[in-house]
Amino acid sequence: QQQQQQQQQQQQQKLVFGSFPSDIQILQKPEGLLNGNLFEKSNLDLSKPANSSPYAFQHQSERGKQQQHHVGNYRETLRPPPGFSGKPRGGGGSRDFGARRNHLEHNVDKLRAEYSQLSNDTEMGLRGQFDHPGPPAGSGTDIKESLIELHRFGGGQVDEVGERIIESLLIEEESEDKNDKKHHRHEKESRLDNRGQRLLSQRVRMLKRQMECRSDIHRLNAPLLAIYESLNPPKEEKTKQQQLLASLQKLVWKEWPQAKLFLYGSCANGFGVSRSDIDICLALNEDINNKSEILLKLADILQSDNLQNVQALTRARVPIVKLMDPVTGISCDICINNVLAVVNTKLLRDYAQIDARLRQLAFIVKHWAKSRGVNETYRGTLSSYAYVLMCIHFLQQRRPAILPCLQGMEKTYNVTVDNIECAYFDQIEKLHNFGSSNKETVAQLVWGFFNYWAYGHDYANSVISVRTGSIISKQEKDWTRRIGNDRHLICIEDPFETSHDLGRVVDKFSIRVLREEFERAADIMQFDPNPCVKLFEPYVHS
Ligand code: GTP
Ligand code: MG
Repeated sequence: QQQQQQQQQQQQQKLVFGSFPSDIQILQKPEGLLNGNLFEKSNLDLSKPANSSPYAFQHQSERGKQQQHHVGNYRETLRPPPGFSGKPRGGGGSRDFGARRNHLEHNVDKLRAEYSQLSNDTEMGLRGQFDHPGPPAGSGTDIKESLIELHRFGGGQVDEVGERIIESLLIEEESEDKNDKKHHRHEKESRLDNRGQRLLSQRVRMLKRQMECRSDIHRLNAPLLAIYESLNPPKEEKTKQQQLLASLQKLVWKEWPQAKLFLYGSCANGFGVSRSDIDICLALNEDINNKSEILLKLADILQSDNLQNVQALTRARVPIVKLMDPVTGISCDICINNVLAVVNTKLLRDYAQIDARLRQLAFIVKHWAKSRGVNETYRGTLSSYAYVLMCIHFLQQRRPAILPCLQGMEKTYNVTVDNIECAYFDQIEKLHNFGSSNKETVAQLVWGFFNYWAYGHDYANSVISVRTGSIISKQEKDWTRRIGNDRHLICIEDPFETSHDLGRVVDKFSIRVLREEFERAADIMQFDPNPCVKLFEPYVHS
């Protein structure tokens, strides 16, 4: 037993934040990385037969685990499941996980087995990196004045063309909704929102699209960066997260000695603001026939160890157990064998390390979305994950580009998760100067981001795709109509699960709310004398 304890202790020291590990070949990372690279260069092919090691990490490197130390007063929240919207896809409940998931679970076990063989993790020095690029763009006073006029007199209504475009997207939705009780409930919630009545006309959007950035935009840099800094979690928070992860790991081992916990989501992808809840994936080394049963068992174990607010949400799209740890004050969600989320966490993390402006922009956008109540998937607005993808895509589209398209480059990282190939260039240390010829500042980018989503994006035809680093057409994806619960009123392609539209949760009411908020934000960034206050003014649902 002593030996087993020792073994557990050793493994415990190897807890890795949010990552699939791999081993050997230490690649030097420059100082000043935002966070350590959680995922190591590995080949994880879950579709291979068992004897060829389906989770075959061809371990080449062990760039080390993240050992940031953070503390903080964590808020206690009981929210719907993380980012996965809490809305069932294709029927909902644990049935969602069908054969593909079973296969995945089977393979996760093998990953676990591989994992247990891993040796020494390498500690990395992890630091935030900040960027203060050059001067702002020019003036454009004339357009500005005419737009102020337009906005005052008549710009605030949907004109005929705009209305027709929106309506054409919604016809199918109308008829399907009639038989959909769950959706009705959701609609009601959206209707309580007074927003969404005053979308701009197509004509005004076209005009505003050509608008130049305000001439005093540089004034907004310092306050926006100050907001970003204040949202950045202090190092001590990481310590607490690690502490909780270690104690949960011990508990879990009592019931499942082979199990492994991975952090994923914002606590591991570099986009976590201070006092975020944490997302944990429990990788089990056994065949799972009934995920609900396991979640309930896990909930029991956690409850009996005095963890608080323990709740098993077995019918969510991604079933989870929620809990709050009274010792650290951290709230967390635990899901089972959700490998794709762990892999896309690595992708986001890798993008975060390329250019500091991504984190700056994404923190501001997430903060705005939370303040304005449009980061609530259960009300039909977007997940944090979706907002980060929107930011990445936006920076891929700048000219010169600020971010590359990692999936369009040589594949240095390659895992196959249940027939989905997740492959991309992950030698991020080679890309640190990628965006340096673009001198745009965070203020210009925030302005540009809202401008794009308010006036520039073609909601009727376009899908944003981080995978291709471009816009693709709805036609091409066959996302021109509602299928089941997937609506495609704003389309954000998941980089790996390409049939998955992160905008699926947005319905005919919330699309208006969302677009009105983008327009409000763009307007504030362009005209308001004090945008940094007004932009984040909390919206209180009536
Ligand atoms: P905050 O908790 O709001 O700070 O953000 P977060 O980064 O944790 O994002 P969120 O709660 O939206 O999602 C947590 C993680 O789940 C994301 O980082 C993704 O890895 C994963 N995830 C979220 N939504 C989806 C989804 O629809 N599909 C997939 N495949 N993964 C998702
Ligand atoms: Mg989260």
